Amino acid sequence: MPVIEPFRIKVVEPIQMTTRRQREEVLEEAGKNLFSVPAESIIIDLLTDSGTGAMSARQWAAMMVGDESYAGGASFRRFEAAVKDIFGFERVIPTHQGRAAERILASTLCQPGNVVPNNTHFDTTRANIEATGAVAVDLPCSESVDLQEPAPFKGNMDLEGLVKSLDENVGNVPFVMVTVTNNGGGGQPVSMENIRRVSRICRERGIPFYLDACRFAENSFFIKQREDAYRSLSLIDIAREMFGYADGCTMSAKKDGMANIGGFLCTNDREVARQEEELLILTEGFPTYGGLAGRDLEAIAVGLYEALDPDYQTYRHASTRYLGDKLAAGGVPIIQPPGGHAIYIDAAAMLPHLPRDQFPGQALALELFLHGGIRSVETGSVMFGSRDAESGKEIPARNELLRLAIPRRVYTQSQIDYVVEVVLEIFAQRHRIRGVRIVEQPQRLRHFSAVFDFVEREAVAINEGVLAAP
Ligand SMILES: Cc1ncc(COP(=O)(O)O)c(C=O)c1O
Repeated sequence: MPVIEPFRIKVVEPIQMTTRRQREEVLEEAGKNLFSVPAESIIIDLLTDSGTGAMSARQWAAMMVGDESYAGGASFRRFEAAVKDIFGFERVIPTHQGRAAERILASTLCQPGNVVPNNTHFDTTRANIEATGAVAVDLPCSESVDLQEPAPFKGNMDLEGLVKSLDENVGNVPFVMVTVTNNGGGGQPVSMENIRRVSRICRERGIPFYLDACRFAENSFFIKQREDAYRSLSLIDIAREMFGYADGCTMSAKKDGMANIGGFLCTNDREVARQEEELLILTEGFPTYGGLAGRDLEAIAVGLYEALDPDYQTYRHASTRYLGDKLAAGGVPIIQPPGGHAIYIDAAAMLPHLPRDQFPGQALALELFLHGGIRSVETGSVMFGSRDAESGKEIPARNELLRLAIPRRVYTQSQIDYVVEVVLEIFAQRHRIRGVRIVEQPQRLRHFSAVFDFVEREAVAINEGVLAAP
C-alpha cells in the first residue's frame, strides 16, 4: 500500500509565487545570504525542521486551556506528566528551546579544561560547552566517513574512541552525550545497542550519560525498522528503553515535540536539578514555566505523543526517503541512506569544478533559491569551517553539504515533486554554477550574517579535470 499523509489540511497558508527576476533582486538585497531573505519571497522553505512544523487540531485545542499562572500552573503539571511518562526522568525543567537547556546543563556540570564526548555535537551544544572553557569532542563511528555507504546506524558513537577518551581524561569528563538522531552527521540514527553500550561504559566509570533527544521519536522508528529485537515493540516502549539507559537529556521541543517553540532539560539527580533550577530562574523563568507560556507547555504535552504515532512516523520516514530516492535516482549524490528529517546533498561531489574555498554548498543553495525559490541551508565550510586569523586562509569543514530539511506535516507530495524537479534541472546544468566568496563575516556563527558574492567566471578554478563551462 502506498504511504499517504495521515492527516487532512484544515488551515492553509498561501505561498507567494515569484519570478527568477524578483528572486535575483531579493538575493542581492540580502547580501546573497539566505538567512537574510524575507520568508514571504520563498516558495518552499527547507531551511530547517526546527519549530517550522504544523500543529494538529488537538494541539491548538490544548493551547486554549493553557494555564498562564506564574507559579504552579496546571499546564506545567500536564507537561511534566507527559515528559515523565515517555522520558522517565525524575526531574523535568522547561526551557524556551533546546539551547537554553544545553546552556544550563553545561554551566552546571562543566569546568574549564573538562572534556565532553558526543557522537557529533550540534553547533549550539558545542558552543555552550565551549563557552564554559570545556572541550567538546566529536566521536562519530567509522561508517559515517563514507557518505555513500548505506549502513543502518551511521549516527552511532565510536565506542573504542569513547573508552580511549575516558581513559585519557580520568576525573575530567563531567558527562557523555549522544545525539539522537545525529543531525551534524547527516540525520543518521543511533542504534539501541550503541546507546546501551555507551551507557555501560559510562556507568562502569560513574560518569553521567545524557541524550540530546531532539529527534527521539524519529530515532525510535529507525530502531524499530532496523534492529531485529525491536520490530514488534511500540515506539513509546522503544523510547522508554532508550531513555532508561541515560541519566538525563536535553530536548528541543521544536523538533519531535511537534511544537513551534519550547524545550526541556531532565535529570535523575536531585542536587543537579536544584542547581539547574537556580540558573533557570536567573534567565528563563520560574521552574513551572521556564521561559514558555502555559499554552506552549500544553502544545508540547500533546505533541510528544503525536511524534510517537506509528502512522505519523511511517509517513515522515517515507516522505523524507521519497525525496532522497528521487534525487539519487536522478544521479544527485546524497548522504546514504536518507536520514529522518532531511536529505543532505554532497555539494563537493556534485560540483567538482568548485574548489572548497568557493563554498560549493553555498553556491548550490543560492542556485536553488534563484532557480526555484527553494530555501535550503549549507552545512559545509561556511557553517563549520573558519578563516585563519593570521593568514586569512580558509580552514574547511569535514564535508561540503547542502541540507534540505523537511518541516513536519507542512508540505505535500506535489510540493516535494517540485523540489525534485528543480534540483534535477540544476543538476543537468551543474557545470554552470559559480562559486561564491565571503565579502564580510562576523567572528562567530558566520553563516547567519556573512555577506557573499559570486566569484567572477574567469576566476572559477578548474578542479579535478572538470571544466567550469561559461
Ligand atoms: C541535534 C540538535 N540539538 C540541539 C538543537 C538546538 O535546539 P534549539 O534550536 O531549540 O535551541 C538542535 C536544533 O536544531 C539540534 O538539531
